[in-house]
Amino acid sequence: MPILKNAGMEIIHISAECYPVAKAGGLGDVVGALPKYQCESGDIAKVIMPMYRTKFLYENDWQVDYKGNANLGNLYFEFTIIKESTNKLGFDLFLVDINGLLDRQKIYGYDDDAERFTAFQIAVVSWISSWEHSPDMVHCHDHHTALIPFMMQHCYAFQHLAAISTVLTIHNAQYQGWMGWDKSLYIPRWDLWKRGLLDWAGNINPLASGVKCAGKVTTVSSSYMEELRIQANGLEKLFQFEQGKCVGILNGIDTQVWNPATDAYIQHSFSVKTLTTGKAKNKQVLCNRFELDINLPLFVFIGRMVGEKAADLLPDAIKTAIYHGNRNASFLVLGSGQTSVELEFQQMIGAYPGIFNAVIGYDEQLSHQMYAGADFLLMPSRVEPCGLNQMYAMRYGTIPVVRSTGGLKDTVVDMGDFEGFGIRFNEASIADINYSIGRGIKVYQDKTHLTWMRKYMMQIDHSWEGTVNEYKQVYLSLK
Ligand code: ADP
Ligand code: GLC
Repeated sequence: MPILKNAGMEIIHISAECYPVAKAGGLGDVVGALPKYQCESGDIAKVIMPMYRTKFLYENDWQVDYKGNANLGNLYFEFTIIKESTNKLGFDLFLVDINGLLDRQKIYGYDDDAERFTAFQIAVVSWISSWEHSPDMVHCHDHHTALIPFMMQHCYAFQHLAAISTVLTIHNAQYQGWMGWDKSLYIPRWDLWKRGLLDWAGNINPLASGVKCAGKVTTVSSSYMEELRIQANGLEKLFQFEQGKCVGILNGIDTQVWNPATDAYIQHSFSVKTLTTGKAKNKQVLCNRFELDINLPLFVFIGRMVGEKAADLLPDAIKTAIYHGNRNASFLVLGSGQTSVELEFQQMIGAYPGIFNAVIGYDEQLSHQMYAGADFLLMPSRVEPCGLNQMYAMRYGTIPVVRSTGGLKDTVVDMGDFEGFGIRFNEASIADINYSIGRGIKVYQDKTHLTWMRKYMMQIDHSWEGTVNEYKQVYLSLK
């Protein structure tokens, strides 16, 4: 779909992640791509995020954009905002440095994450309030930035920003950033009558506050938007109440990064035309490296090994598939998360030579090689707001085997349905996963059907171009 060229709006994306600067999952991919395509459409999109100590920081050139100071409760802090000098990512990128809080290697997982991200948000709002003009749109992503709409409207120091439109995009409502009320002092002096806008169930709930205060709330697929009204980790009533300002917009994928014809991370590039030989060569690379039997259909899992992804079911599901299926499929997993799941996978490595292997950790390059070389991608997710993995898999001709939930439901059509190219199942259970692996093994024998499905899904357009227009409509509705 062509991007509609439009009169430029200045949009400030605020996020904890942005690929390739720092990424833990799909949030990074989205914030690394959406602004780039918004700029291509004529808008002026910018990204501001914490200055973690990542490789990208050391390998690029920066200039100081702003220096300020603020308080986090009783803690006085100074911050510096730097800007990437060359517009390398296709948009202006700003990083916030706060000594002692943001100068760490990892993005999340510290005991003081509440302090880190609250200070980050205060620094960002202080920066915007120092400008001589106002941006057209402040676009926050997830709970790490969701206090910003409240701050802009109800903190005395920032109320001159109250007229600026705000959008909150929810990538995952499971995590809400809860804080006890003892931390309310962290938020710069605010109108105490507005306590209800911060509170949910007796805690400060940044995500809930963002839903209440942002002009519009989007999430990353239509189905997930509907599901949030039924299951939102305690916020169901809020999503029912705020239904009128909530919109589901399916994520796109960055087709410049995720393109099997040009991907520098894979050994053998391929296109729809060269799909069969291309995939076979990439599968060979994987099978050589991980000592897997090239003749078997290869099922892979890539992702965070957490409850939402139902990763805990996979060790038993894979073992059952191996026993029941008489060793007629092979499996490769990549990810990290729950220690018990990691351990189970590690123990399985020696137990099933030739048909199972695992890499515990994060490896961007290997993930690309797996999308390219695998036959099937397993995603039994209990919760999947959008899911990018299945869209990457499709673009690399790898058949997604997914639970019917959230964005998986919106992007995968079961091969039993009209023009179907994937495998869907209803329950996050070992039985359903196994049954679906069985369906995959069966279709793998039918090379004509297999090739048709692969070619069909490789050509589905999930590029950002259309999505950019949908965000634009949301922004315009606030003007
Ligand atoms: P989520 O954001 O919930 O983790 P998504 O499907 O939206 O799920 O996005 C996950 C992104 O993170 C994809 O780009 C996927 O390839 C990547 N990813 C997840 N785990 C790993 C890993 N262990 N190594 C490399 N890439 C990973
Ligand atoms: C979250 C969701 C995932 C989504 C990603 C990007 O991490 O878990 O489903 O694709 O954000 O929006």
